[in-house]
Amino acid sequence: MRSDETAGTNYCRGFFSHRKNNVTLQYFKAMEILDNFSLKPYNSFGIEARAGHFAAVTSVAELKEALEWAKKRELPSLVIGGGSNLLLTEHYRGLVIKNELQGYEVLDADDDFVFVKVSAGEVWHRFVLHCLEQEYAGVENLALIPGCVGASPMQNIGAYGVEIRDVFQELTAVHRHEGYTRTFTHEACAFGYRESVFKNLYKDQFVITDVTYRLRKKPVFHIEYGAIRQELERLHVSTLSIQAIAQAVINIRSSKLPDPAVIGNAGSFFKNPSVDKSKYVSLKAAYPDLVAYENEDGTMKLAAGWLIEHAGLKGYRKGDAGVHEKQALVLVNYGKATGAEILEVCDLVVRTVSERYGVELHPEVNIL
Ligand code: FAD
Ligand code: EPU
Repeated sequence: MRSDETAGTNYCRGFFSHRKNNVTLQYFKAMEILDNFSLKPYNSFGIEARAGHFAAVTSVAELKEALEWAKKRELPSLVIGGGSNLLLTEHYRGLVIKNELQGYEVLDADDDFVFVKVSAGEVWHRFVLHCLEQEYAGVENLALIPGCVGASPMQNIGAYGVEIRDVFQELTAVHRHEGYTRTFTHEACAFGYRESVFKNLYKDQFVITDVTYRLRKKPVFHIEYGAIRQELERLHVSTLSIQAIAQAVINIRSSKLPDPAVIGNAGSFFKNPSVDKSKYVSLKAAYPDLVAYENEDGTMKLAAGWLIEHAGLKGYRKGDAGVHEKQALVLVNYGKATGAEILEVCDLVVRTVSERYGVELHPEVNIL
């Protein structure tokens, strides 16, 4: 049972048994809903914001019950996993639902693939470790990404040359208001760079309850991105394996990105922006060191971290809100920053980058 100093409890959850005259009586107590609940431990920015109501759900039935509870009271609801891609700029007056649905299930396998269904509340990195143990290939480049399985297709999480869409088979989701269950195929998810249908057409409409991944029995290695190859050399890896790649990715990530347990952050705050070739050519003429990658459609993706750093904002700090000193794409909370203060830094970065380069940055983080 979760507790919070100032929280009031509306309900208690679970089966309770009581023995009387050699007979076991079972009672079902409804799910626990806590009032005025601190979300500080539930967002990786470590922002002190409170939820009007909070419930942790461990089954689809409880999820539906929680959604119904909010609907009856005409309250909005917010589903969270690890809270690692959220910026809370104010208190949330509705019901925050922490998805704690657990479990893995192998649905099917053939000579090449294994199909694993994973409940949305499972911790993403724990699933990656499970795949490494079972020799299921495909998610090794995505090691150490914080958060839960449920957000992985919503965000189309990606790192080191791999995105969820590369291993995604299908997902199940519950409609927030109507309560029905729907299966989404790969096509229906409309994946894009850190995008999916759940951030656009179906924003705030569905809660993802499980995701099925299509993992390879025979690995296809991706080591061309970033510093993976150099890190494998440094580790003296002579025979490639998914475990070696995961270790290389873990080492690179740990050296570059701030640990939210130490400094509050939500990873890259902005997406890397894309521009057309002619804009890129004029920027490259003015800034020969500019870092950019060609997209499949011929546009150029600019490294936002480079733009921010060369606009002079790397390490910028006002109060406890700032731009990380090692990775300019990451906004940080050094302690007691509010969400509004982080948002001020976000606005400063967007304005400065726009004025200097004529390029618009868009947040990747979900701002509430
Ligand atoms: P939350 O922050 O809890 O939620 C994010 C959004 O998804 C919210 O809008 C929420 O309402 C919604 N949501 C959550 N669960 C569900 C659900 N079950 N159904 C419907 N909607 C849901 N991301 C990358 O892609 N690549 C990286 O390399 C990367 N590195 C990071 C490094 C650090 C240090 C940090 C802090 C973050 C990083 N991220 C990265 C961002 C983050 O880890 C991912 O976006 C992750 O998928 C968020 O998962 P979460 O469970 O914490 O989502
Ligand atoms: N760079 C700078 N200055 C900085 C930061 C970066 O010049 O302060 C330059 C680097 O030197 C490099 C380039 O920008 O040449 C790219 O940097 P990096 O490899 O660190 O990747 P990124 O573009 O900053 C993206 C993702 C990360 C993902 C990594 C690895 C986005 C928005 N971010 O970061 O994802 O882990 O690549 O694949 O696409 C996240 O989404 O939260 C996240 C951390």
